[in-house]
Amino acid sequence: MVSQTVKCPSCKTIMIITGEPGEKTSITCPSCEQKGVFTIPGEKSTAPTLSQQTAIEVSGLRKTYNHVPAVDNVSFSVNKGEIFGFLGPNGAGKTTTIKSILDLIHADAGSITINGIDVRTRGKEAKKYVGYMPEKVAFYDNLTAIQNMNFYAEIKHASKQECVSLINELGLGDTGKKRVGKFSKGMLQRLGMARALLGSPPILILDEPSGGLDPRGVVLIRDKILEMKKKGTTIFVSSHILSEIQEICDRVGIINKGVLVAQDSVESLSKKLNLKPQMSITLDKLSPAVEDAVRNLPGVEHVVSKGNTLEIICDGAMKAKVILAITNAGANIQNLQTKEPSLEEVFMRYTEA
Ligand SMILES: Nc1ncnc2c1ncn2[C@@H]1O[C@H](COP(=O)(O)OP(=O)(O)OP(=O)(O)O)[C@@H](O)[C@H]1O
Ligand SMILES: [Mg+2]
Repeated sequence: MVSQTVKCPSCKTIMIITGEPGEKTSITCPSCEQKGVFTIPGEKSTAPTLSQQTAIEVSGLRKTYNHVPAVDNVSFSVNKGEIFGFLGPNGAGKTTTIKSILDLIHADAGSITINGIDVRTRGKEAKKYVGYMPEKVAFYDNLTAIQNMNFYAEIKHASKQECVSLINELGLGDTGKKRVGKFSKGMLQRLGMARALLGSPPILILDEPSGGLDPRGVVLIRDKILEMKKKGTTIFVSSHILSEIQEICDRVGIINKGVLVAQDSVESLSKKLNLKPQMSITLDKLSPAVEDAVRNLPGVEHVVSKGNTLEIICDGAMKAKVILAITNAGANIQNLQTKEPSLEEVFMRYTEA
């Protein structure tokens, strides 16, 4: 979703419109009622349309350790072709859920399917569709990166050429004859991602892929995830880097103390929590009359002035009226920024003690 300011050609009132890039939208000026059609700038997304088919279905999952539930009655589904972010505080049950999906641990109750195949009864078949990057990646320490990759390529029926390409793409091309036992944490993470990508699996399950990576490594993994999504891959990713997740995920699931507390897009979760956008408007001259005009509007929750800038928290639907009130009060807008509610706020609210 993109927001764009538009000036009415008749009365010069400034309006904010939102929509997808390339979308045509009809607008009516709130001041003079002049009607018009505006095209949101940018190109239409070329991302493939999501099919409603489910890639991963988890239903009523329960796993206990020494009679203490680590995951309790967790149900969610991941649609084919989407990036699903799986979030939760330390010890919330993310890795336990992921290991259950891959049938690496024995769940106490519930059913899990990958591409409609029951992982309990036909695990080997189901896992053929999956590239997995575990939380703690492990390799043969006395082998080099390429030797390790060649080993896993045989299992996944991938070519040696693909191993070389992935090692280069993940920035490990110059590790040469260095044995993996001598790799740093970040280098191991990169190799773990390369292994998960072997054979271009249709589903990727990544447990904290960015843990221990430098900023360049974080961007590299993010770009790889987006590249795989463009190819139609379904990606299930757990992460603590919320800004990254917010940027790339279609939907998120939030788990807290073993219970799934939310499952939706970040935008919908923000709406459910009634989180409000923040506007930052810089004016040529800020007078008390302008500030009062904004403060007195219904739906405006918070107004603070910093120099010539007004920081405003208001209902999403009030953004245009805030701008109108400012211009009607005689001020000229020099700069305008809108910050939508962040995933961090959503996360904090859903995982409150
Ligand atoms: N093998 C085990 N034996 C006993 N308890 C375990 C075991 N593995 C996990 N747990 C417990 O299950 C709960 C969930 O752990 P899990 O590793 O799934 O959390 P997580 O969400 O992945 O956390 P993090 O963000 O720290 O990776 C924790 O209380 C943990 O102590
Ligand atoms: Mg974990």
